[in-house]
Amino acid sequence: MSRSWAVVTGASSGLGVAYAERVASMGTNVVLSARRADLLESVAADLRERFNVDTRTVTADLGDQDQRQTLIAELQELDVAYLINNAGFGTMGEFAEADPDRMADELNLNVVALTDLTRAAVPGMIARRRGAVINVASSAAFQPVPNMAVYAASKAYVLRFTTALWDELRPTGVRALAICPGPTDTSFFTNAGNDEVMSNRRTPSQVVDTTFKALRQHRPYIVDGGGNVAMAFATRFAPAGLQTKLAKLVATN
Ligand SMILES: NC(=O)c1ccc[n+]([C@@H]2O[C@H](COP(=O)([O-])OP(=O)(O)OC[C@H]3O[C@@H](n4cnc5c(N)ncnc54)[C@H](OP(=O)(O)O)[C@@H]3O)[C@@H](O)[C@H]2O)c1
Repeated sequence: MSRSWAVVTGASSGLGVAYAERVASMGTNVVLSARRADLLESVAADLRERFNVDTRTVTADLGDQDQRQTLIAELQELDVAYLINNAGFGTMGEFAEADPDRMADELNLNVVALTDLTRAAVPGMIARRRGAVINVASSAAFQPVPNMAVYAASKAYVLRFTTALWDELRPTGVRALAICPGPTDTSFFTNAGNDEVMSNRRTPSQVVDTTFKALRQHRPYIVDGGGNVAMAFATRFAPAGLQTKLAKLVATN
């Protein structure tokens, strides 16, 4: 059995399950982390049965600094081939009416936990001269998104942070990649407050395919899906007023 591990956060549903399945199919052992222990256990049992890999589960609210410590210890102890920082959530609605506690949880998970977990994993990867950090950003990272202002800004952080890290790690043999999915068919929109929007969605397995193709090409970031690539490229040259108008149009269709 392989000695190397993948650590996948948000592995209880959606993209996280698809990432866990993909790395297990490559023969890599998997640490699965999220808050819902029952779902993690059932994903872990499925991976062991189908792919004959070893699994561990870490049940934690990763936005909470104390609860993150068990996962940080795993990252420092194991031979981690992949850290997949996938756990994250968004919130739809006007900023002036946002729940301050939820807003802080969103930033703690999407930004602080992702950075902290990456910091725990990278020294071991550098010492072994191999490994990859895959950070799940979003196509929302490329422009401000009214009514999802905090979420889009948190993903802009993930994109910038990961691209800088990609450059720092280049001489070491360790890779960093920000994957920027557009609307994808998971529980994300239900949890964000409205599942009726952005009905033209990609599948989690398409996003995972795009991720590993980009990783093989040593790219710093990749946008998943042709339409999302075009949108991310076009908004780059638009003035702020047009960027927000386009983002609102996409977010309501
Ligand atoms: N779906 C999309 O359209 C889309 C587009 C762009 C980017 N993304 C990004 O893709 C990533 C995965 O989301 P998804 O689409 O797969 O949505 P999802 O099905 O809602 O999955 C979110 C995952 O994050 C975990 N999570 C949420 N809060 C957590 C916390 N405080 N501590 C630990 N784990 C937590 C959830 O597990 P528990 O509830 O069990 O904790 C779940 O496993 C997110 O970073 C999201 O921002 C999604």
